[in-house]
Amino acid sequence: MPQNFTVTPYAVDGEVDYDRLLDAFGADALTDDQRDRFPDPVHPMVRRGVFYAGRDVDPFLDAATAGQTCSVVTGRGPSGPMHLGHVLPFYFAKYLQEQTGAYVYVPLSDDEKYFAKDRQFEDISAHVRENLRDLLAVGFDPERTRFVIDTADADVVYPLAAAFANDLTPATVEAVYGEQPNVGLTFYPAVQAAHLLLPQLVHGRHPTLVPVAVDQDPHVRVCRDIAAKERYDVDKPGDLLSRFLPSLGGPGKMSSSDDAPSIELTDDRATVEEKIHRYAHSGGRDSLAAHREHGGDPAVDVAYQYLHFFFESDDRTVERLARDYRAGDLTSGEMKARAAEQIVDFLEAHQARRDQLGSLDAELGPYRLTDDERERARRGVGVETGRLE
Ligand code: TRP
Repeated sequence: MPQNFTVTPYAVDGEVDYDRLLDAFGADALTDDQRDRFPDPVHPMVRRGVFYAGRDVDPFLDAATAGQTCSVVTGRGPSGPMHLGHVLPFYFAKYLQEQTGAYVYVPLSDDEKYFAKDRQFEDISAHVRENLRDLLAVGFDPERTRFVIDTADADVVYPLAAAFANDLTPATVEAVYGEQPNVGLTFYPAVQAAHLLLPQLVHGRHPTLVPVAVDQDPHVRVCRDIAAKERYDVDKPGDLLSRFLPSLGGPGKMSSSDDAPSIELTDDRATVEEKIHRYAHSGGRDSLAAHREHGGDPAVDVAYQYLHFFFESDDRTVERLARDYRAGDLTSGEMKARAAEQIVDFLEAHQARRDQLGSLDAELGPYRLTDDERERARRGVGVETGRLE
């Protein structure tokens, strides 16, 4: 890892140099050709380089564009309420599902967050239930989407994780993650490998893509080594790696666990406007006169970055906003007002869908693994029986 920043699944610090990170991780930058091969229309997060790198993206694109079986796995570590940055990969996954018919598997790693954070299981479980409402509100196709909760679906997660843990040496885990504070976290990579290989164990060998922020690449790397073992009938999952949505205070991971305020999925219009106007780091000049004369810098302007990252879907509009900002024709206040407006539109639609949900158990039912799917997954690692009768 380069000296002046850290990116691991458990710590993101410093000014991330995204290109040097690829060298350190050994992942590949996405090529223009790959970007163009995403199903049309290509999602703005791919077009604009928010998803900027990956591993084995091509097999997924081949299958997805040929209408063959493919899957997307993107999960959630339920350590707290979900905020804006957390939900974007799920909307991206839904978009891919609509375009390609991909299966989408959404694991919730409550065990991981229990091991990694100083919290009681009661608190984590409350976040699981609350996060599930947000994930259900995204609107995945229940026929082709499965939510899997590590502790609640232990009848399938545990046999898989046990099989994969047997393939993983402590030396490998230490080399990839450094020293871990407890054996739970040393074991956890086997659990995440179970998440990533589950669609193939259920539906047969096929290309899987894991769209995640770049800090999750180590989990995928470990899983790919396991998947390469002869005894499993699976392909190595590929990943699609994104930059971090900047926090309101400026670049770095948009984190709910530090002091910078985050935009929560429950925030109303007034709250979003207030957070952006007060906290969003501005690339504008100190005075309006200086801004008009010299222009602002969209590259460090968080309001602009949010529009660019996700919230303004029209490329020409994004380019015009950047141009007008640099020219000083558009002020920082105007940029913020625009970002707030588009984020509020997105949140209000999300909140309306969430408010319409009935009881969690009833809503979740169609998204849970069926008995047959559980059986197939266990058989994929050689465990024949789930029930002992
Ligand atoms: N480890 C992820 C996190 O901390 C959550 C997660 C669990 C995940 N399983 C996954 C992400 C599978 C992507 C794919 O946020």
